Amino acid sequence: MPAVVIVGAQWGDEGKGKATDILGSRVDYVVKFNGGNNAGHTVVIGDQKYALHLLPSGILSPGCVPVIGNGVVVDLKVLFEEIDGLNERGIDTSKLVISSNAHVIADYNRTMDKVAERFLGSRKIGTTGRGIGPTYADKMNRLGIRVQDLFDEKILRQKVEGALELKNQILTKIYNRRAVEVDEIVEELLSYVDRLRPMMADTPLLLHEALAADKTVLLEAGQATLLDVDHGTYPFVTSSSATTGGACTGSGIAPTEITRVIGIVKAYATRVGEGPFPTELFDDDGEQLRKNGAEFGTTTGRPRRCGWYDAPIARYAARINGVTDFVLTKLDVLTGWDRIPVCVAYDVDGERVDEMPMTQTGFHHAKPVYEFFEGWHEDISGARTFEDLPQAAQTYVLELEKISGARISTIGVGPDREQTIVRHDLL
Ligand code: GDP
Ligand code: IMO
Ligand code: MG
Repeated sequence: MPAVVIVGAQWGDEGKGKATDILGSRVDYVVKFNGGNNAGHTVVIGDQKYALHLLPSGILSPGCVPVIGNGVVVDLKVLFEEIDGLNERGIDTSKLVISSNAHVIADYNRTMDKVAERFLGSRKIGTTGRGIGPTYADKMNRLGIRVQDLFDEKILRQKVEGALELKNQILTKIYNRRAVEVDEIVEELLSYVDRLRPMMADTPLLLHEALAADKTVLLEAGQATLLDVDHGTYPFVTSSSATTGGACTGSGIAPTEITRVIGIVKAYATRVGEGPFPTELFDDDGEQLRKNGAEFGTTTGRPRRCGWYDAPIARYAARINGVTDFVLTKLDVLTGWDRIPVCVAYDVDGERVDEMPMTQTGFHHAKPVYEFFEGWHEDISGARTFEDLPQAAQTYVLELEKISGARISTIGVGPDREQTIVRHDLL
């Protein structure tokens, strides 16, 4: 019966992959419900490191069925490359199922992503260039190609023709690129059909039956609350619903089935790509966070922008998602500071604002109001209980808990599965 959601509470890369992997051995299904291979979830198991983009992190747990839900956009080339890469490392991927309603990223969507970013110039979003936005745009425009369309060549051809009609005009007349051939696209997509056939499923029905049979389903978000197309820092967002609401629409699981919502939040903050980030640091502290936390993108390798913890954002994420438990990750990265600033509110044009400002302009103008907490210098990466942490680190966690909108149930003190402190069980 339990359906548990894992969502990012900041701008992504909070450690959702590790959290999913920790629970993987205790759940029956792990569902990716949004996004595509713009995600990068790193999971460290002993001396092995896995970077997952399109596959749910549950793929690494032998007993669990990994599901790519209807809300995902699938780059089939990347999918099979990722599967082959894992198979070569001895990971069994044979249980993977993919929704017949998931949309497919076609080559022209990747092209549109790149040319659109170039066209935007200084107004660019800083996308991952994986074709995510244009594929979701096609979906909403009712010009998308779904996984099931690949199994009916006539329909596929019609749909690709329909999708390219306007796009080829735009590509040739506005972006000065060559037109895309329908045949080329159809041929590439059809080349995946044989491998795809056994994986395709009616995933909403499958998950419904699983819940009815008292199985545990974990819904793993890509991206995060502040990158959500509705609730994020629009337009500097991704194009999918990365919040709990998206977990329902992107999987076909009803809201009344959700039993728990786990928000993943870093002990500081990072962001990749463009857009407002009130606590961003441009000084040595920012460099130190990037270095200590190895803050370089899993997908694009870009250095992540780093800043201090932002409590109004955590509260916002708690509200939007209905967070019941936070997993506070990367506490170990904060080791070594004498005092640690935490943003507790904003100054917006001279006025104190305690919550996320209502308008984008307000958020762009928001300057952090900091409170300072005592730091610690001891290595905490070996801590396994809350009491193992130095007093100052314990206080830091308890103070964050008071101002973040939900209890902090788990604390990460290193990338490995084992480097975890459990205060309250997550399942
Ligand atoms: P995701 O996109 O939310 O899954 O997060 P990413 O995998 O992109 O980025 C999180 C990074 O932090 C990964 O390299 C993880 O291995 C690492 N990580 C996760 N939890 C911790 C932690 O508690 N401490 C440290 N030092 N690293 C962590
Ligand atoms: P995970 O799942 C961090 C950012 C991009 C860009 C914006 C739009 O690893 O947390 P897109 O290619 O999605 O159209 O880019 O969203 N972005 C992410 N940032 N983590 C991610 O995923 C991201 N996925 C997209 O950098 O600013
Ligand atoms: Mg990531």
